[in-house]
Amino acid sequence: MTCSPVRLVEVGPDDDLFAGWCAVWSAAQVADRPDEAPRPAADHVALARQLVEPGGSRGGTHRAALAGADVVGALRLLLPLLDNPTVAFVDVAVQPAHRRRGVGSALLAEAGRIAAAHGRDELIAELDEPGPGTAGRAFAEHHGWSCDLLETRRDLVLPVDEGRLAALEAEARAAGHGYEVVSWRDRTPDALLADRALLEQRMSTDAPHGDLPVGEERWDADRVREHEAAVLARGRTVLSAGAVRDGRLVAFTDLHVPLDRPERAQQGATLVLREHRGHRLGARVKAAVLRELAAQLPQVRRITTYNAESNTPMVAVNQALGFEPAGQMSVWSRRLS
Ligand SMILES: CC(C)(COP(=O)(O)OP(=O)(O)OC[C@H]1O[C@@H](n2cnc3c(N)ncnc32)[C@H](O)[C@@H]1OP(=O)(O)O)[C@@H](O)C(=O)NCCC(=O)NCCS
Repeated sequence: MTCSPVRLVEVGPDDDLFAGWCAVWSAAQVADRPDEAPRPAADHVALARQLVEPGGSRGGTHRAALAGADVVGALRLLLPLLDNPTVAFVDVAVQPAHRRRGVGSALLAEAGRIAAAHGRDELIAELDEPGPGTAGRAFAEHHGWSCDLLETRRDLVLPVDEGRLAALEAEARAAGHGYEVVSWRDRTPDALLADRALLEQRMSTDAPHGDLPVGEERWDADRVREHEAAVLARGRTVLSAGAVRDGRLVAFTDLHVPLDRPERAQQGATLVLREHRGHRLGARVKAAVLRELAAQLPQVRRITTYNAESNTPMVAVNQALGFEPAGQMSVWSRRLS
């Protein structure tokens, strides 16, 4: 049935309606994964503030779908400003009790209008799929989107088995003579900042992107600092480990831990520069950051990571550490017009 008796209004982080906007996300996440705490409202608020700050690498806007005075649907549109000028990233969620009434479709149509007004002609959206038959997949297919990338979610229950970790470390050390492992928290050391920017840029081309219509991102030292500040503002702390050769950072990995519920950490980016692959540096930095995690944040009970199955080296490292499959994330796109 499509009647959509909703009214769409623009909302920002300081509007009264924003709490309702966040509550829609919470309810949608709990419906999909009842055993997991949803993303806290403060995280959405911090992201929303970043999007309206001038000079950032991303812009964006939010819409709430109102049924009477209640927010029943939520849209966030993200617009990359330094690169990828033709795409817009879309997040849509609808209160479970208000689904199958056209609210999601109304928000998606609005996303298309806003994106087109900003000169974008491709929409991209991510779907969490804990199991088969998610509403999001049916919705995306209904709207003619194509699934361009599938990533398996894997979770690692902590503490890591000491035998596995020690074996991985020993192998990785033996294969990586001449590389030094360094670690830091929240702020990349100044001396490694330019290298970190290059690694981030390579991440945008070297990690598998399937058929997604995205191109290389443009990163410099300022963008790394912007990214670090944004993550902290969202209430997370980030533990990082890197591999250094001749004073240059050639590999890194990040773990994000939400400070208000540190039981569940998220794996961030991991990259080894192409010219330094084959020395087990991916395994080495991941093992190093796990040691840091155990020492600094022993409250973390679980780490979640997402990998394309085609990313065999990364999947192999994760499996060696004991990560187990926990659903998938799919990434979809649709051309406007
Ligand atoms: C996906 C979601 C946004 C859909 O919202 P909605 O308001 O129910 O969507 P609509 O009513 O506009 O659905 C349009 C069509 O999509 C398809 N569809 C949507 N949900 C479906 C479901 N659970 N099962 C089968 N088909 C579904 C149907 O074809 C539907 O048309 P119909 O009801 O006339 O058969 C909502 O289920 C949700 O919030 N899910 C969690 C977050 C998410 O996955 N977001 C998608 C990211 S883009």
